[in-house]
Amino acid sequence: MKYLRVIDLLKQAPGEEVIAKGWVRTKRGNKNVTFIALNDGSTINNIQIVCDTPSFDEELLKQITTGACLCVKGTLVQSQGSGQSVEIQANSIEVYGLADSTYPLQKKGHSMEFLRANAHLRPRTNTFGAVFRIRHAMAYAIHKFFNDKGFCYLHTPLITASDCEGAGAMFQVTTMDLNNIPKREDGQVDFSQDFFGKQTSLTVSGQLEGELGAMALGNIYTFGPTFRAENSNTPRHLAEFWMIEPEMAFYEISDNMDLAEEFIKYLVKYALDNCQDDLLFLNNMFDKELIERLQGVINTDFVRLTYTEGIEILTNSGQNFEYPVYWGVDLQSEHERYLVENHFKKPVILTDYPKDIKAFYMKLNDDGKTVRAMDVLFPKIGEIIGGSQREESLEKLQKRVDELNMKLDNLNWYLDTRRYGSAPHSGFGLGFERLLLFVTGMSNIRDVIPFPRTPKSAEF
Ligand code: 4AD
Ligand code: MG
Repeated sequence: MKYLRVIDLLKQAPGEEVIAKGWVRTKRGNKNVTFIALNDGSTINNIQIVCDTPSFDEELLKQITTGACLCVKGTLVQSQGSGQSVEIQANSIEVYGLADSTYPLQKKGHSMEFLRANAHLRPRTNTFGAVFRIRHAMAYAIHKFFNDKGFCYLHTPLITASDCEGAGAMFQVTTMDLNNIPKREDGQVDFSQDFFGKQTSLTVSGQLEGELGAMALGNIYTFGPTFRAENSNTPRHLAEFWMIEPEMAFYEISDNMDLAEEFIKYLVKYALDNCQDDLLFLNNMFDKELIERLQGVINTDFVRLTYTEGIEILTNSGQNFEYPVYWGVDLQSEHERYLVENHFKKPVILTDYPKDIKAFYMKLNDDGKTVRAMDVLFPKIGEIIGGSQREESLEKLQKRVDELNMKLDNLNWYLDTRRYGSAPHSGFGLGFERLLLFVTGMSNIRDVIPFPRTPKSAEF
């Protein structure tokens, strides 16, 4: 008798004696026959367990309720019903764990809000099982993509003393007693007494250290959690999210765009090729255009245009945007989505943004006003990737650091890459959960990460 996971049981030919283990999704039947739908998370599909009701103890059958965990022994047989090829004719059932009527995920459909409040149990639903299997598949595909291209996975620190994006949205890391904070003579906090002897935070991006890696190993990528204390309670922002950041020596901005486009198409195709059952479920349940939209992306060239051209299109659009559009403004998601969904009807890469709305490290263009930035904008999402060619000139970079009043003593190590053997290089950051929003068709970013962290919410 062999134990197999449901995904493998469903591929077996009938005839074998098997063991199945999993959680009860539904039970129905009568005094002659009982049907149990069992799921173990290995696939969206359940295995049907068929019991000859009279030959099972009545008390045992009563314990088999939605949410209970079972170990079933029986014979794999051709299914009589539609919807599955094989089912298990049960000989014996052991109840591993009961689930009484207080189990929150009873049969009926639940709102996404209710499931979010029950994030400890929601992986047991069809929807979240599908989303988290796709999340896993995408993580694997990301490593495969870069490994196949010879990129080196570089682990960048999560605790840092520098603010990469300069947006000031950092979570402080401290072991100081908040009720008794040591102060210097001038009244300022004395961070020299803190754990690291200086002020530290959780990182908003691994890029700065990634650049150090690229200036030695050539092509690297990071893939890890990042933290932003921005008070953005939107369906696209998390306080803790995962980011993939490749950084490449000798890449110009156009090489960077080519890689970003190839990368996203690879991931979307990987999902279409490897997550069919889950995508089909999400397509049918939530978003009837999901699969079509995914196919659309892999079969289309992304539009490339400058920020300035984008602003022109937006100002001539005749649209009444909530946030006004003018040259120099940071684009809002409504603007990005207008370009992608209404104007071009395909993904857009916007380049050459005004330097004042972008981070200090981006390469200054000859016009002295814009930087060699690139944002990839996607339907339903807006910005999915942000990247740039980096300023490789020590002089220009130092000038920018001074203009922005950044603390040089925290950045000297970074400037060393420009002091010693500087080189043209580029990179970008893909928000993992933004990618998952696109691939799964979910509409709230809280529903593509197992345990979301957002303002005023850090449950589980
Ligand atoms: O555009 P961002 O801020 O770029 C950087 O951090 C660069 N250092 C990346 C690089 O060049 N190596 O962030 C990159 C991406 C965004 O395009 C978005 O997809 C995602 O990270 N992102 C968020 N995702 C979820 N919640 C948030 N609060 C996010 N902020 C950014
Ligand atoms: Mg950005």
